[in-house]
Amino acid sequence: MIEPVYSAAPGRYENMEYRRCGRSGVRIPVLALGLWHNFGSLKPFSEVKAMAHYAFDKGICHFDLANNYGPVFGAAEENFGRLMDSSFRPYRDELFISTKAGWDMWPGPYGNWGSRKYLMASLDQSLRRMKLDYVDIFYSHRWDPETPLEETMQALVDIVRQGKALYVGLSRYPAEQARKAFHYLAERDVPCLLYQDRYNIIDRAPQCSGLIDLCAEGGSGFIAFSPLQQGLLSGRYLNGIPADSRMAQGVFLKQEMLTQELLQALDGLNKLAAGRGQSLAQMALSWLLNDNRVTSVIIGASSVAQIEDNLKTIGTTGFTDEELKLVESLSAPVQLKKLG
Ligand SMILES: NC(=O)c1ccc[n+]([C@@H]2O[C@H](COP(=O)([O-])OP(=O)(O)OC[C@H]3O[C@@H](n4cnc5c(N)ncnc54)[C@H](OP(=O)(O)O)[C@@H]3O)[C@@H](O)[C@H]2O)c1
Repeated sequence: MIEPVYSAAPGRYENMEYRRCGRSGVRIPVLALGLWHNFGSLKPFSEVKAMAHYAFDKGICHFDLANNYGPVFGAAEENFGRLMDSSFRPYRDELFISTKAGWDMWPGPYGNWGSRKYLMASLDQSLRRMKLDYVDIFYSHRWDPETPLEETMQALVDIVRQGKALYVGLSRYPAEQARKAFHYLAERDVPCLLYQDRYNIIDRAPQCSGLIDLCAEGGSGFIAFSPLQQGLLSGRYLNGIPADSRMAQGVFLKQEMLTQELLQALDGLNKLAAGRGQSLAQMALSWLLNDNRVTSVIIGASSVAQIEDNLKTIGTTGFTDEELKLVESLSAPVQLKKLG
């Protein structure tokens, strides 16, 4: 059977909120879709396509990738390249696409960390896999303690000058290094557009380190990843571990994390969410977006239904002071406060 040609939904921008990335000219949707899990070689392409189309049809025009998203490494970018060919090419100027390099990608001394050699080669590979001429934002995926910060930052500057990325970003940098990096980039007129870190009701590291304030003061946007702490902050694990869940795979989300203390906190938060007329996932996303220093939140999903559920967050992000106090007291015993 010949598949119909994809045609994006009219009115796709009507119900999404877009926030400005720091002191820049560009706005991104408050929900972005991340392709870390469920977009690689284990998922049938038909499901990858269904989730990506659904997201774009609802105004999620920011897709977050990295060189090693899979499995196997590179597979999510390859699938994104297939999406470009099958559906998204006519919409390229409506899309905000990111990729990153900084983690383990290929063997030998040049396939990891933060050297100019690695970042330049990796981005070229990413562009080939994604069938793109340029990405909208290229991130240094993590701070490399052994490469001079100036080398990594100058590679980012030169990538923009070469036209291979329109903007640059940083992910998972300790506050002190982030401060220096922001300064280096700004001095060369290639300011850091977005700083990306794990942030959610349980993981407070970027709040505790002062990074969120640093971004706000320095004119960078802040984009939160793993807003549901990989699914913990949803109803997914309240009654056991579903066979098709990320925790059942046991690679990035381990069963040991599901302690009695955490379950008790999740149960309390779930009840609070129900009182607000929300699912726990929706409340967790609302809590992040209630803070206007948070530019956007990158959700992950294993189905269209999860994206649909998460989209209901839009327009429901307000909290009363009493609700905010309850979120604090319920989550306090299980909050993580350091970059882990
Ligand atoms: N910069 C970095 O170092 C870095 C690191 C990690 C992630 N990221 C980015 O952030 C993105 C999101 O990270 P993440 O996948 O950990 O995000 P997340 O939103 O915290 O977790 C996503 C998982 O939560 C579950 N879920 C989502 N919506 C749900 C709902 N409404 N109800 C019940 N369960 C729901 C699903 O788990 P199941 O699969 O079990 O269904 C889904 O796969 C990644 O794709 C990536 O783009 C960046």
